Amino acid sequence: MNIFVTGASGFLGTSLCKKLESGGNSLEKPCSKTCDLTKQDSLKKFDGIKYDKIIHLAAWTQAGDFCLHHPGEQWVINQQINTNILSWWHDKQPQAKLLFMGTSCSYDPSMEHAEENYLAGVPIDSLFTYAMTKRMLYAGALALTKQFGLKFNCFVPSTLYGPGYHTDGRQMHFIFDLIRKIIRGKLYGETVTLWGDGYQKRELVYIDDFIRIMLELDEKYDNELVNIGADGEFTIRDFAKAICEKVDYDFEKIEFDTSKYVGAKSKILIVKKIKGMLPDYSLISLDEGLSKTIDWFMENRDKLVSPVG
Ligand SMILES: NC(=O)c1ccc[n+]([C@@H]2O[C@H](COP(=O)([O-])OP(=O)(O)OC[C@H]3O[C@@H](n4cnc5c(N)ncnc54)[C@H](OP(=O)(O)O)[C@@H]3O)[C@@H](O)[C@H]2O)c1
Repeated sequence: MNIFVTGASGFLGTSLCKKLESGGNSLEKPCSKTCDLTKQDSLKKFDGIKYDKIIHLAAWTQAGDFCLHHPGEQWVINQQINTNILSWWHDKQPQAKLLFMGTSCSYDPSMEHAEENYLAGVPIDSLFTYAMTKRMLYAGALALTKQFGLKFNCFVPSTLYGPGYHTDGRQMHFIFDLIRKIIRGKLYGETVTLWGDGYQKRELVYIDDFIRIMLELDEKYDNELVNIGADGEFTIRDFAKAICEKVDYDFEKIEFDTSKYVGAKSKILIVKKIKGMLPDYSLISLDEGLSKTIDWFMENRDKLVSPVG
C-alpha cells in the first residue's frame, strides 16, 4: 500500500512506520522541517501521487503542564494542521482512507468516556484547547464523509508507553517521568518528588499493542471512532510502587508535591465497543510493559537519566 504518514518522527509514528514498512508498504513520511503542515501549500508537492491511506499523527503538543501554558498557540497551530490535512484529503486524495488520533482528554470528565460522548459536554479546562482541536478534527472528518462519502477511522488511545519515547528533553508523559525520576533516585540519590497526592488514576496502553489493534480495526471497519484503552486504571502510587520494585528503590522515600498540576483525577476509557468489534481484544500485562520500558530507559540512560544539573 502507498501510505502518507504525518508525525512519522513522533513516538507513535516511529514505531508505526517500522511496522508498516516491515509489512511491505511504501511510505511517504514528511517532517515538519520539509513539510510544515501549518502552511496551506505544504502538501502541494504530493498532489500528483495517489495514496491509499493518510495516517495523520502530527499534533503540536507535549505532556505535563504544556497545554496549560500554550492554549492560544495550540488552537491556531493544531487547527491549521488539521484543516490543511482535511482539505488536502478532500481536494486531492479522496480515494485515500484517513486514519487519525483522538484523545481521552476530549471527554467531559463528568461523563462516561464512551464513544457516544466524545463530542458531548465540556473537556477539562486545563486541556480544553487541545481537546477541542481533536474534537474539531473528528467533526471535520464526519462532515466530509457525510457530504462526499470519504472513508476514515479515528482512534482514541489511553496514554501510550513503551520503548522509543523522545530523548530530547521535552515534557514527558507521566509514566516516563515516573520511571526517570525513580531511576535517578536510585542511581544518583536524588529526591524523588511526584506531582499531586499520587491518588490520581491513569491507564496505559503498550505502544506495540496499540499499533497492532489500530491496524486490525482499520482493516475491518470504516468511519468509526473507537477507544483503545487498558480496561483498568491504577493510581500514580501503584505505578510508582511497581517501578520501585523493578529498579530496587524504596517507595517510602518518595515525596508528593500537592501544589503541582495533575490534570484529571481519572480518565478511564470505556472499551465495550472495541471488545464487541475485536472479540480477542487483549494487551500485554503492565508488568511486562513496564519491564520493557525500563530496560529501554537503562539502555538510553546517557540521554534520559543523567543527574539533574
Ligand atoms: N502518545 C500518547 O500517549 C497519545 C495519546 C493520545 C493521543 N495521541 C495522539 O497521537 C498522535 C501521535 O502522538 P505522539 O505521542 O507520537 O506525538 P509526538 O511524539 O509529539 O509527535 C508529534 C509529531 O507531530 C509532528 N508535527 C508537529 N507539528 C508539525 C507541523 N507543523 N508540521 C508537520 N508535522 C508536525 C512532529 O514532527 P517533527 O518531529 O518533524 O516536528 C512529530 O512527528 C498525536 O496526534 C497525539 O495527539 C498520543
